[in-house]
Formats: sequence, C-alpha cells, structure tokens
Amino acid sequence: MNFRTIIEPFRIKSVESVKFTRREDREAALRAAGFNVFRLPAEDVLIDLLTDSGTGAMSALQWSAIMQADESYAGSRSFYRFDAVVRDLTGFTHVIPTHQGRAAERILFHSILSPGQIVPNNNHFDTTRANIEVERAEALDLVIPEGRIPHVIHPFKGNVDLAALERVLQEQGDRVPLVMVTVTNNSGGGQPVSMENLRGVRQLCDRYKKPFFLDACRFAENAWFIKLREAGYADKTPKAIAQEMFALADGCTMSAKKDGLANIGGFLAMNNDEWAETARNLLILTEGFPTYGGLAGYDLEAVARGLEEVVEEPYLRYRIRSTEYLGEKLIAAGVPIIRPPGGHAIYLDARALLPQVPPLQYPGIALVNELYLEAGIRGVEIGTVMFGLHPDGTEAPGAMDLVRLAIPRRVYTQSHIDYVAEAVIEVAASRAKLTGYRIVSAPKALRHFTARLEPLA
Ligand code: F0G
Repeated sequence: MNFRTIIEPFRIKSVESVKFTRREDREAALRAAGFNVFRLPAEDVLIDLLTDSGTGAMSALQWSAIMQADESYAGSRSFYRFDAVVRDLTGFTHVIPTHQGRAAERILFHSILSPGQIVPNNNHFDTTRANIEVERAEALDLVIPEGRIPHVIHPFKGNVDLAALERVLQEQGDRVPLVMVTVTNNSGGGQPVSMENLRGVRQLCDRYKKPFFLDACRFAENAWFIKLREAGYADKTPKAIAQEMFALADGCTMSAKKDGLANIGGFLAMNNDEWAETARNLLILTEGFPTYGGLAGYDLEAVARGLEEVVEEPYLRYRIRSTEYLGEKLIAAGVPIIRPPGGHAIYLDARALLPQVPPLQYPGIALVNELYLEAGIRGVEIGTVMFGLHPDGTEAPGAMDLVRLAIPRRVYTQSHIDYVAEAVIEVAASRAKLTGYRIVSAPKALRHFTARLEPLA
C-alpha cells in the first residue's frame, strides 16, 4: 500500500499546554505591546510562527545526550563528539563552536574583512548583512531574477545569478575576499539552491581564486529539495547530498538553532588554517575557549545528535511536506504567497493581499496584527517596517511586504497547521476591512524589533 497521508514521524512523550485567549484579551495585549507582536509576551500567543530558530522540539535521544554531557572547560568529551559529527557531515578540518549563527558570522567577517570590500551572496540574512556592514564592507545580493518575484515558480529560486557573480568577480574581484551562498535562501522565501548552481559558484571561485562559504543554517532542508527536484539525486540519501554540498565549499557559518535541531548553538567551520587560527583567537576573546565557544557541554551534545537526526529521511519528508501542505491550502483558497512554498516557512504577500494599504502604511503589520487578533497566531512582517528605514533617516517601501509564518521543527501537528490555514483564509476573506498603521516611536536601526505603532482610522 502506498499511503498518501504523510504522518509526523514521531510520537509525543512530553507536552506543553498552549493558552487560549479571547479576542478582547488579545486586543488588550496587542495595544499594550504597541501593536508590535515582537513585544508580546509569548504566553499570550496560541500558535507561535515568529521564527523556526531555536524553537524546535528536541528528541528523547537529544535530552538523554544532554544528561551525558561533559562540562569540562577545555577538551570536553562533548566537544570531541560535536567535532566528529560536524567533520563527518561537512568535511571541513576546523570546527569552531559558537553560541549561535551570528557569532560565527561576526568572527568570520571581523577576521577577514576590510572596509570597502564586497561579499556576494544569493541573499544575505539580516544579521549576515549587519556583520558585513559593521566592518564597512558591502553585502551584495545576487539571487536569480525569478527569486525576487513572489508568484514566479522555479524549482531553485534561491540560485545565485552566476552571470552577475562572474561580472562582479571580473570587474571588482580584488574587492571580494570570499563568496557566500545561503541554503536555503531565507530572505528570498526559504527557497533552495541546486547542486548545479553550487557547482557553478565553485567553478567561478576556482577561476577567480576566491574561497566559497555556505551559510548552512537550513542545509538539510536544501538537501531534501535537491533530492526531490534535481536530476540524479532521487536515490541519494539527504546526508550524502549534504556532504556533496559542503564538499563544494571551503567553509561555512551555521546556526544550529535551525537544522541543528537545537535551542541554541552554532559553528564556524573551514579548511583554511590561517583564518581558523585568527578566528579561534577572536573566539577566546568574546565567546570562550575553542572547545566550547560559548556553549555548555550539553548544548554541544544536543547539536551533535540534532545534526544526525535532521538528515533522516522520514523527518525531512514530513518537514518539507508539512510546509508545502500549508502552502497548498492557501494557494487553493487564492491567498497570495511566495511560490513554490519554501522549506521552513510560508511567506504571505501582504502587499498583493491588501492593495488598499500603501507600503508606507505597512500592509505586513496590518496582516500580522489581524492574524494575532483573530486567531492568536504570531507571524512576522518582512517588509517596509523591517527594511524601509535607511541610514540617512529617509523611508521608502521595502522590496516586498511579506508576512512570514515560520514553522518550528517537530512542534506543531497537522491540526495546528489546519487551524493556521483556516485562520489565514478567514483573515484574507475579511481583507477589505483592514487598515494601515503609523509608527509612533522607533529606534534608528533594527526598528522592527521594538517600534511602537498605532492603527490608522
Ligand atoms: N543566516 C540565516 C540564513 C538565518 O536565517 C539566521 C537566523 C542567521 C544566519 C543567524 O543565526 O539567529 O543563530 O544568530 N535566522 C532567524 C530567523 C533568526 O528567524 O530567520 P542566529
């Protein structure tokens, strides 16, 4: 029998209650939060889709590994286990643990970047961009044109525009210290990058003698998309595909809060001995000794086991299918989303859904807030509030006004997702009554986290 129903590949041993609230409770909570869901107490949220980062459920094997951890300051057994798992997966010779992804980014970029340099990527995640810009270098996004248009379907919408990359390397190669590719491409909708494209980046890096680093946060989800969509990979294991991806690169930054299936952790890994030495020295300054890098021994154990579980086929089949399942329901109901659905999240196109709310009245916020008020669901605006304020103080519409519904790993069941689909479809049906917002107060940088807003009309 070939069953069509894909079930959660786990059973639940420990549960956590969620709190049901009434609409008037949520109205009061949102008003107190300055109409910014980042300021809400998480307890007042029924289904939290703010991020897939650090929000996953760990397995019984991860919890038991935690109990076995060695908390020695130097040379802990848990470090050697972590190091062996990361080296087996990535093939890189130097493995440097960090407390999360952005610490790996900061250490890498602070070690190697000088002012005026350029780092190309498909799309930089915001912490990656910020850690490049703080070194007064430029973060350049070179995703293929299809990757910028929500409704355009392409199997590997996260691919790098190789012609554009070659132009940069040809014309300004002396300013490029390394090339990065983010798998999957979070800022572009959680979209995968094909092996063929990674091979193309490798060839250009060889030709122009540049190191190639992966931002590998969601490497396993990317590997699964390659297995499903790229010729020649159907019979390979996700782990073998991931190993092939890493083998094309010279190093990576990693947030283990995503495909490490852990609540905290990350690493920087590479083959270059000199860079690794500089990075370890910087690590000691800000994170900790190189065998723990700001993590407890038990975190290293959780990540090591997580990296083994995340490449298991039943897990990845369920993971990618459950995101697609939500996407399919919304597409069938005519809700505009980034297509095809990505790996870790569904991105609603708020600008298309709410044409009556101009970008500078924040359609993404209008949609996020209504989803919370109507159903207790927390998503996140990825649009004009997040990207619209420029360093010179001027404001312009972001490239898109999206609402990301990120799905924590192994946390919510199919009925939770059915509820989310019903709520989004309900809110989309009432879209005519939604109005925009204005910002009452906000800091000059990263305003989306703490801004206070107020509904218009
Ligand atoms: N790179 C990518 C592609 C990411 O998505 C993130 C985090 C990071 C780097 C930084 O990792 O949080 O461990 O320091 N993304 C989270 C998100 C926060 O919600 O998408 P970190």
